[in-house]
Amino acid sequence: MNVMSNESASGPVLEVQGLSKVFTGNSEPTPVLSGLNFQAWPGEFICIIGQSGCGKSTLLKLLAGFIPPTAGRILFKGNDITGPGPERCVVFQEDALFPWLTVAENIGFGLKGRALSAAEKQARVNRFLDLVGLTEFKDYLPREISGGMKQRVALARVLVLSPEVLLMDEPFAALDAQAREQMQNLLLSLWEQLKQTIVFVTHDVREAVTLSDRIMVMGRITAETIINPTHLVPIPLDRPRIQNRREFMKLALQLKAMVSRIES
Ligand SMILES: Nc1ncnc2c1ncn2[C@@H]1O[C@H](COP(=O)(O)OP(=O)(O)OP(=O)(O)O)[C@@H](O)[C@H]1O
Ligand SMILES: [Mg+2]
Repeated sequence: MNVMSNESASGPVLEVQGLSKVFTGNSEPTPVLSGLNFQAWPGEFICIIGQSGCGKSTLLKLLAGFIPPTAGRILFKGNDITGPGPERCVVFQEDALFPWLTVAENIGFGLKGRALSAAEKQARVNRFLDLVGLTEFKDYLPREISGGMKQRVALARVLVLSPEVLLMDEPFAALDAQAREQMQNLLLSLWEQLKQTIVFVTHDVREAVTLSDRIMVMGRITAETIINPTHLVPIPLDRPRIQNRREFMKLALQLKAMVSRIES
């Protein structure tokens, strides 16, 4: 990361400016993003929706610094992102835990390189075991716990690193409806306590409306149309959000219509 800093406490945490990505492999070049602009503010929860193949995961990988942009810039607090960094952590749909480590050891793994005493590390692990409700299961191995519990471990082992930005790519997509709802509630309660900036990709419009402050509706780039979201849709509903309320359903329907209009 660039050492020169022009950050201000009230500025955006993430700033995407004219971002384009074209994949060039063996086949034809594939343009995926073109001239994308948006900002994420401190503590903001942004969801990204859009149909399969529109570039949601690509955008997350760019924000994580796993892949470079073709054009444009991505800034973290005013500094160009040039690779992965500890201030930006990623949670995927199927996060592989270390199968030979216990729940507590998995959560503490990322702290190995940190300049903290053993007691401080243990205290942090205990705090996050408690926050995700897994204290009782701390000595279990991943194969001995449910899918929902594994995703709680995946979340805790990232949150224990105190990232300022949490990048989540369909983290609950593999869970059944009940576990998924529990994870949504858990994530919201952790976010209210820890105040990270979250960028969360989902296929599920209802999940996006349940979680986010603003929603980005992404479209696919074709020869005829280049869709660059320039406007993120604000979700002006109080939390906790009730899915069968009229205002919720109205917003979800409008967003679904936007997704299908872009794709048609
Ligand atoms: N490394 C790569 N090389 C070439 N093309 C790629 C690469 N990664 C992604 N793509 C292409 O970029 C486009 C967007 O892919 P991406 O995975 O970002 O979509 P997505 O919105 O996350 O889809 P889904 O909802 O199915 O997860 C697709 O056409 C995909 O084939
Ligand atoms: Mg994806």
